Amino acid sequence: FFMCFDLCISEIYVLDDEVGLGRVFDGIGGLSGGGATSRLLVNYAEPYRRQILDYLFKPQFGASLHILKVEIGGDAQTTDGTEPSHMHYESDENYFRGYEWWLMKEAKKRNPNITLIGLPWAFPGWVGRGKNWPYDFPDITASYVVSWVVGAKQYHDLDIDYVGIWNERKFDSNYIKLLRYTLDKSGLERVRIIASDNLWEPITYSVLVDRELANAVDVCLYFLTFIPYHYVWPNRAHYPGTTTIAEALKSQKTLWSSEDYSTFNDPVGGGCWARILNQNYVNGHMTATISWNLVASYYEDLPFGRDGLMTAEEPWSGNYVVESPIWITAHTTQFSQPGWTYLKTVGHLTHGGSYVALTDSKGNLTVVIETMYTLCIARKDIPLDHLEFLILANMELQLWQSKFDFKTQKHVFFKKLSPIKVKISYGSFSLSLDVDEVYTLTTINTGQKGTYPDPPPSAPFPKVYKDDFNIANPPFSEAPDFADQTGVFEYYINLTDPGPHVFTLRQVVTQMPITWATDADQTISVIGDYNWENLTVTCDVFMESVKTGGVFIAARVDRGGQAVRGAKGVFFWVFADGSYKVTNDLVGRTVLAKGLSGTSAYSWYTLSLTVQGQYATGMVNGEQLWKNDVVLGQHNGWAAIGTNSFELAQFDNFVMEVK
Ligand code: GAL
Ligand code: CA
Repeated sequence: FFMCFDLCISEIYVLDDEVGLGRVFDGIGGLSGGGATSRLLVNYAEPYRRQILDYLFKPQFGASLHILKVEIGGDAQTTDGTEPSHMHYESDENYFRGYEWWLMKEAKKRNPNITLIGLPWAFPGWVGRGKNWPYDFPDITASYVVSWVVGAKQYHDLDIDYVGIWNERKFDSNYIKLLRYTLDKSGLERVRIIASDNLWEPITYSVLVDRELANAVDVCLYFLTFIPYHYVWPNRAHYPGTTTIAEALKSQKTLWSSEDYSTFNDPVGGGCWARILNQNYVNGHMTATISWNLVASYYEDLPFGRDGLMTAEEPWSGNYVVESPIWITAHTTQFSQPGWTYLKTVGHLTHGGSYVALTDSKGNLTVVIETMYTLCIARKDIPLDHLEFLILANMELQLWQSKFDFKTQKHVFFKKLSPIKVKISYGSFSLSLDVDEVYTLTTINTGQKGTYPDPPPSAPFPKVYKDDFNIANPPFSEAPDFADQTGVFEYYINLTDPGPHVFTLRQVVTQMPITWATDADQTISVIGDYNWENLTVTCDVFMESVKTGGVFIAARVDRGGQAVRGAKGVFFWVFADGSYKVTNDLVGRTVLAKGLSGTSAYSWYTLSLTVQGQYATGMVNGEQLWKNDVVLGQHNGWAAIGTNSFELAQFDNFVMEVK
């Protein structure tokens, strides 16, 4: 086919497959993790949970994603929480922790062809033999990562297609070669390596000068260009995020944007996503783009709230929101598949915006046009574009439109318009383009704007909340709605307990991991509503470190994520040395009260903390231990539990009551 679209002002755009084709398209994807971004999703009740998954993964329904990339949990804080490792300790192996296995299976169920990628952000401390570095013992690191790939197959029948090195951190050429060797030795030749999930440099230079490295990763070395979220906002003169470097093109490797977007998912975010998806290829020859993140399923007051393709952050109400990035994704994903090829004739529109075209080389054609220039690069007073198409082929083109209207906020997303019939004898038709629009013209006629009845309305976290952790075969290793910010809190069974505490929640990380962010020196898991002020938190606690043990319950915790070390709030600690402390911070420096509690390891105690206005009061086993301590500064925040160091400790009968 040969297509030519002609602007009224007589610029002519030619789409032609006879001049040769461009690069092979590898797909559009979402990233779960980096970290804990899907945490709350698993706690949704049906049918809402499967509806959300359908909007993400079901072909011809919503975002219909081609790629799912997940974090290989490393027990450490990786943006919005920690994700558990499959090997907390050297002798430990468990492939049923966390929710990424489940998510990958749900994705595969809906789209058996979905590409799966795993990437570590962090590693358990033992992998570095205590050093905050994963490459001193590269054989350990390689076998740790390969275990994850093998476990995926063995326990979940999941074929992982790609693994990465270390997210946005240094790579090590010897490690990459060893990883290749270890994969091959384990019969995993088909698993390909992505490097380096960071900037184009220096991996590009290493590949250009190190043939062995280039071969080790075969044709499968990929690059990441990451757009820090503030760069995709308006008023940028350039497109820093959609470009590559000359050497990367020279390396002849496939180029991907293996993490991108990271933008608040309102229509501004949706519009920028449209621009990114087209222009990553037009400007940067990147043939896959992966959104950080897949679905915003973490407390919104954690870092980068709502930076997902859609929002599902209220498992307690069932409310979720299918945001515009879902439909912007659909403009490409529903009408092209990995393995299709871009035409060489792609580019920018003279008045702003861009167009790409893809073909399956069997006569199908998909053209995606975006004119998202108003908001993304802030150009003003742009005349309407009138495109005239000239097609030398007999075809009927389906036409799908999204139209952002930032003045009225009445947006139209992914609407099917009347198809365009092109006859070779006439060969031409026209299309008018306004600013902030996305169009797909395609020979594929299976597109669908999937829909479900509205989910329940949004509602705040329940004011009374209890969990006794009494569950014999939990579907997930974490208890509902707890969001671990340092350490990992897992369901635990005490086989020797005489009765009341057989089923508990246990903090299991005993050593500072090889970190990606700055984890706290204490462990902490938050829960509840960030706006809460006055409440009582009660929890049974059990220290497992003689003399050195320490645990806390807390209220008004003001931060998590990468900022967790600086968390403030009201923390009530008891220690195995028989003392207690009340502090205003997680590090335990601002002491409001302290004294003797008579607490020790290997006994259960019921702690209770009440915060009311400026005052806080604490009880142990129903008796007041301290009273009316003045709370400094911190007015609201989550409730939390945690430990004084990386140590084993258990929690049971957790209750929150909000006044
Ligand atoms: C990336 C990182 C993600 C997340 C994101 C936020 O650098 O890989 O895990 O932190 O930034 O923009
Ligand atoms: Ca229990």
